[in-house]
Amino acid sequence: VGSNPTLSAILIPGAGTIIKKARQVPLVLAGFGHVGKAFCGLLQEKDELLRKHYGLALKLQAVLKSDGGFISDSGITPKGFPDRPGQNTARSPLWKPGQTLEAVLKTVKPGVLVECTPSNVQTGEPGLGHLRAALRGGWHVVTANKGPLAVDFKGLRDLAQANHLVLKYSAATAAALPTIDVGLYSLAGAEIISIEGILNGTTNYILTRMGEGAEYKEALREAQDQGIAEHNPALDVEGWDTAVKLLLIANSVLGLDLTLQDIKVEGITQITSGLLEKAKQEEKTLKLIGRMTQAPGRWKAEVSPMSVESTHPLFGVSRTNKGITFWTDTMGAVTVTGGKSDPRGAAAALLKDIIHIFCIPNATTSFRL
Ligand code: HSE
Repeated sequence: VGSNPTLSAILIPGAGTIIKKARQVPLVLAGFGHVGKAFCGLLQEKDELLRKHYGLALKLQAVLKSDGGFISDSGITPKGFPDRPGQNTARSPLWKPGQTLEAVLKTVKPGVLVECTPSNVQTGEPGLGHLRAALRGGWHVVTANKGPLAVDFKGLRDLAQANHLVLKYSAATAAALPTIDVGLYSLAGAEIISIEGILNGTTNYILTRMGEGAEYKEALREAQDQGIAEHNPALDVEGWDTAVKLLLIANSVLGLDLTLQDIKVEGITQITSGLLEKAKQEEKTLKLIGRMTQAPGRWKAEVSPMSVESTHPLFGVSRTNKGITFWTDTMGAVTVTGGKSDPRGAAAALLKDIIHIFCIPNATTSFRL
């Protein structure tokens, strides 16, 4: 560690290791919604820390929206985006109407594509095309977009490996809540017997608020106001967001090749205040759980509202918080909770993945070997 300043900075945060010459990493961001905007803000906020402690100078060279992009050779700062109320995108000197991601990836020296366009779990687009273009063009990828991974997990994983590139998706697998990192790194060598997770902040928030007496619609609107619900909130409340996250965690950590068709999915739309009240009287609670269990000769994947006993590690996970429990042979039940859903947390998960690509030796895979 002593001879590796980057590693010592990671292992001893704040130990005062200053890395003088930072490595410049070009970034291109696709998607400028809640998470994309939060990511841009975080790049500015963390610029000094990234340089000093990780030796990384992340340079945002382009931000693509559906109708064009902001492009700058010298790097884009928040001032480059006149994208606030009352301002017009086209007034930015950096704005190029009609600019496509595919064209930008061909002109910029490869670094990392940060994918934040909206998830479409049916077609995967536009993110799927973005990820394929990036991985074919020599770009590492970190993504908050679940759609492409839901549609072609195996194809994208193979494409990344064939091109010796890294594809990371913490931001698509419960974001600020560490899930895959724990399963892959912290539980290395342990056999995972089953997994249970509260992986969706919107539904956990709705169930918590309904338990406090709020109406379903009111609780959903509050979740939308916090910028955590999907563009189409049916994906949250009908369980599909949880199902995709479960699929990605299971495929990565258990080495499976599940598709969405392999998961039995039920959401929270049938849950009433009466059912929540009944659970409470029995000292239980209702949670939307994504669960992997072993049936003879195969893994069983399901998402459904489940009654959780007060002794269960996920019992107290409420509001926008999430949680995951891995049941193992050697380490017992390992639970992580917290990591509330919000755009800043998702942006932070993207940043974590970028740091891991460059600063954790051999962290070149998101899959159990
Ligand atoms: N809609 C998701 C949630 C956030 O509520 O947790 C993005 O994964």
